[in-house]
Amino acid sequence: MTEPHDEPRAHVSRRGLFGAGLAAAGAGAGAAVGIGGATTATGVNPFTAAANGDESIDLSQSHPFYATAARQPQGGVQTAPQRYCVFMTFDLSTSVATELQVLLARWSAAIAQLQAGKTVGSVEPAHGDGVGADTGEALDLGPASLTVTVGLGPGVFDERFGLASKKPAALADIPRLPSDNLQEGLSGGDLSLQACADDPQVAYHAIRDLARIARGTATVRWTVLGFGRASAGANQSTPRNLMGFKDGTRNITTDEDHDRFVWVDEPGAGAAWMTGGTYQVVRKIRMNIEIWDADVVSDQQRVFGRTKIEGAPLSGGTEHTTPDFAAEGEDGATKIDATSHIALAAHEANDGVKILRRPYNYTDGLNEYGQLDAGLLFAAYMNDPEHFTRLQRKLGASDRLNEYISHIGSAVFAIPPAPRKGSYIGEQLFR
Ligand code: HEM
Repeated sequence: MTEPHDEPRAHVSRRGLFGAGLAAAGAGAGAAVGIGGATTATGVNPFTAAANGDESIDLSQSHPFYATAARQPQGGVQTAPQRYCVFMTFDLSTSVATELQVLLARWSAAIAQLQAGKTVGSVEPAHGDGVGADTGEALDLGPASLTVTVGLGPGVFDERFGLASKKPAALADIPRLPSDNLQEGLSGGDLSLQACADDPQVAYHAIRDLARIARGTATVRWTVLGFGRASAGANQSTPRNLMGFKDGTRNITTDEDHDRFVWVDEPGAGAAWMTGGTYQVVRKIRMNIEIWDADVVSDQQRVFGRTKIEGAPLSGGTEHTTPDFAAEGEDGATKIDATSHIALAAHEANDGVKILRRPYNYTDGLNEYGQLDAGLLFAAYMNDPEHFTRLQRKLGASDRLNEYISHIGSAVFAIPPAPRKGSYIGEQLFR
C-alpha cells in the first residue's frame, strides 16, 4: 500500500499527471470514432479503460482523512471522482446530543481507518466466539482511493439536540420545485454518508460498517448505489451518463472557482463551525430510458444542446469550445435551443452562478413493468443550496430534458470541514 498522497490543495499527484497524459491520448483517439464504431483509427476500443484515462487507477492509492491545515475540506468533494459511489442517509433515533457526538466521533475514527485501507476493528473477536467489529469483505482489497463524506441534515438542528442556535441560515430543506415527483422514503435524512472508491466492494464495505456503528443511534433512511462517475476531475476525461452523453464537460475544476462557489467563507451567525465546509444537494433522478432510447439522436442532441459523440456545443467547435448561445442557423433560430438543458443551466444564464456537480449513474434493476429502472444520482456541492434551488426551479419548469427524467429523491446536508487528528467531524458544534 502506498502512503496517503492526495492533500485537497496539493492535488497534482503521480496518478493525476499520468491520467492527464492518457486522457489526452484518449481524447485524440475518441475523435476518430464513427457512429457505431467500436474501435478508432488507432485501433483503440474507445470503451476500454485506456481510452477513458482509467489505466491510471491504482487500487493501492489512499486519501488522508484528517486535516493538516485550517479550513481543509472533507474528501469526496474536490477529490477527482472515483468510479463507484454508495450514498446512504440516516434518521437519528436518539434525542441525546452526546450520543450524536459519540456517533460522529466513532464514524470519524472508522473513516480514517477505512480510507487508509484498514479494517474498523478486528474481523475476529478478541476472545472466543462473537461478532467481529469489521465485516471483513474488504480485507484483501486496497484503499481504492476511498473517501467517505459525512453530512449533517437540517434535523440535527431541531429542538432535540439543543443545536438550533448553530444552524447555518443556508441549511433549509429544499422547497418543492417544478416537475418534482418525490417519493416517500427517498428524501431527507438527518445524516448522510457518501462513500466513493475505485472498487465497488470497498465503497460498500465502508457504508456497511459505518451503518453498523450507527445502530442504536440512527436508522437507515434511503440509499443509492452509483457507478460510472458522471463528472470529471481536473485531470480526468469526461465520462458518459446513461443517456449516452458526456457529462461534466463544463463543471467547476479550478481552485479559484471552488473558493468562489463551493467552500463556505461566511457561514453566518452561530455557524462558524461551517467555515471551509460546503453544502451537498442530492437528487435521485430517474430516467425514462425506454422513451429516451426511442428518440432520434438529432432530437436527443437538441435536448442537451450538445452533440452525442463529441459532446461539442451545437453552436460548433469541439467538446471544450465555449457554447455560443446567441449563434443562429440559416433558419434564424438559435443553434442551441433556448430550452435545451445547457442553455438553461449555464452560468451565463444564471447571474454567473456555478455549482460543482459530482453525480453517478445508478440502476435499481427493473421496475414493476419490467423496464430498466435507472438514472442519475445527482450530487452537487455549493456554498449556498439556494444556488441549486434557483437552477432547478428554472430547469424543472422548462428544460427539454424533463420529458425523459423524473426527480424522485431529494436531500440537503451541511458538510463540515475535515477534522484535525484527535478531533472528529462537527466537533466544534458541541463546544
Ligand atoms: C438526469 C438528470 C441530468 C442529466 C442527464 C444531465 C446531463 C447533463 C449534460 C449531458 C450536460 C452537458 C455536459 C456538461 O457540461 O457537463 C449537463 C450540463 C449541466 N447540467 Fe445537467 N444533467 C442533469 C440534471 C441536472 C440538474 C438537476 C442540474 C442543476 C439543477 C444540472 C445542472 C447542469 C449544469 C449547471 C450544466 C452545465 C451547463 C453549462 O455551463 O454549459 N443538471 N448536464
